[in-house]
Order: sequence, then C-alpha cells, then structure tokens
Amino acid sequence: HAITLLGAPIEAGAGVAGCAMGPAMLRTAGIVRTLKDLGHDVVDLGDLAPGQPFAHARAPEGEARDFAEIAAWARDLARETHAILREGRLPLVLGGDHSLAMGSIGGVAAHAAEIGRKLFVLWLDAHSDYNTPRTSPSGNMHGMPVAMLSGEPGFETMFGDEPRALIDPAHVHLFGIRSIDADERRLLKARGVDVVDMRRLDEDGFAVSIRRIIDRVRAADGLLHVSLDVDFLDPTIAPGVGTAVPGGASYREAHLVMELLYESGLAPSLDLVELNPFLDERGKSALLLVDLAASLFGRQVY
Ligand code: ARG
Ligand code: MN
Ligand code: MN
Ligand code: MN
Repeated sequence: HAITLLGAPIEAGAGVAGCAMGPAMLRTAGIVRTLKDLGHDVVDLGDLAPGQPFAHARAPEGEARDFAEIAAWARDLARETHAILREGRLPLVLGGDHSLAMGSIGGVAAHAAEIGRKLFVLWLDAHSDYNTPRTSPSGNMHGMPVAMLSGEPGFETMFGDEPRALIDPAHVHLFGIRSIDADERRLLKARGVDVVDMRRLDEDGFAVSIRRIIDRVRAADGLLHVSLDVDFLDPTIAPGVGTAVPGGASYREAHLVMELLYESGLAPSLDLVELNPFLDERGKSALLLVDLAASLFGRQVY
C-alpha cells in the first residue's frame, strides 16, 4: 500500500496531559521503518501544526473543554486526510487524543461521499466516546468524537461554514467496549450503533465478531476506517494511557483482529490514538501499537 503518516499532537481533548508526545513516541518505536520493511510505500508528513483556535466554534450548551482548539485541529486534519485519500494513499494518523478522530474521520467521510462509497468505522476502544457537550460527565472532548461524527447536537459550529460530511451511526461498530455512561447508552440504542462489548466478545469470540463486521463492509462495497484507542488493550499490556479500564483485549486477541482485517483486503485508513508516553513503561505500549499496525498491514508469522 501507499501509506501517509501524519502526526496530530493533540492532548486538549484528554483529561490528563501527555498525548501530545504520542506521535514522537510512535516514531521512536519504529512505525516508519516497520511499515517500510513490510514493503509499503511510506511517506511521513511529520506533525500537523496546531491551527488558530477557531473563534466561531463553541459548544452551544453544556461543557466541552477547549472546543475552539479542537475544532481547529478537526478542520485542519479533515482537510489533510481527505487530500491524502484523493492522492490514492491511505492516511495513518498518529495521535494525539481521540478527539482527533473528529477530523481524521471527517476527511475520510468527505472522500467516501465524493466517490460514492459507504464509510464504515471500526472503533476499537474501552469507551463508546458518544458523549455530547450536554451529556459529558467530564467535559473532555476525547469522549465525544463518535457523537460529533454522527451529527449529535452541540457540534454545529465545529467545521464552520465548510461542508461537513457526517457518518451514519448505523455504520459504526464499537468494539471492545466496557465503559459506557448512562446518557451514552440511551443515545447509542436510539441511533442503532453496533456495540460489541466485552461481554459479547467473551461469548462469541473475537474472530467471529470481527468477521461479521468485515462481511458487512464487503457486502456494501464500503470503505473502512479503523480508530484504535490504546485503552482497547488490557492495561497490563498497554499501560501508557490516561483512561485505562481493566478487562481489555489481550495481546493475541488484538493481533488477531489486525490479522483478520489484513486478510480481508479492506485496507483501512487508521488512527492510533491516546498513547500517553508520560504514563508508559519503557515504551511498552508504543511498541505494541507499532506491532499491531504491522499486523494490520501484513506482517504474518507464517
Ligand atoms: N466516558 C468518559 C468521558 O466522557 C471517558 C471517555 C474516554 N475517552 C477516551 N477516548 N479515552 O469523559
Ligand atoms: Mn476525495
Ligand atoms: Mn477509550
Ligand atoms: Mn476513545
């Protein structure tokens, strides 16, 4: 594949500082060399510079910390991922907290709309990230991207006057989930989001569950975007995250998801988010993310 890396050192959406160091950490852990060694054409654009806080952007009600700053990142990132796809390349966004997905997926959605393909999102996370400024218990915008992309109220000023391509919440697959706030649960049910929580994964298994999603995307000839939050993984194997929740995906389960996605041939665009180097232990989480990206892009044991 032709893969373009772009760093998005954004941490204003998280409650704990440190994610701004994520892109540097992923480069130190060898993300570029690893993908090149797999035979891919890899370009690293470096880090996106933070844009001017978008003065017109503000949450109409409720709390959303640093809304104007995150709106600026989102607009800039959406432009970049859209441009990368238009060149026939796959964007791989190095985060940065999960609010960056408002932009990265915003751009992928715009591209999908332009070429007339349906966009499906695989959200690998402990959390459903479906809060709005009105429902958020924390005010942290990394808990809001799926709601924002799904067109929930409170984000109308995010992209200013520019056209915003939104995703269909019925095309979102939340996967690995084990922490949902009460208002999120209500909204997720009302919108028909597919929530594959850990309870279901324990019973059905990872392989069956991911194949069901792959089959659906294939049947619709859809595009796939994968957004991988470090806290999808169990904290014992990935401690470098500010919102750890026990009972996450194991090393083998996470690799299996990536290996099955690679074998599907769907070639997804990708976010690697929420890596907090300040909380990591000797690069453990960063190295694991790089290995998972390698599995997603074709590393095989045999
Ligand atoms: N649901 C909580 C909140 O809204 C936690 C969200 C955590 N999100 C994340 N991307 N780590 O604050
Ligand atoms: Mn396009
Ligand atoms: Mn999370
Ligand atoms: Mn998340």
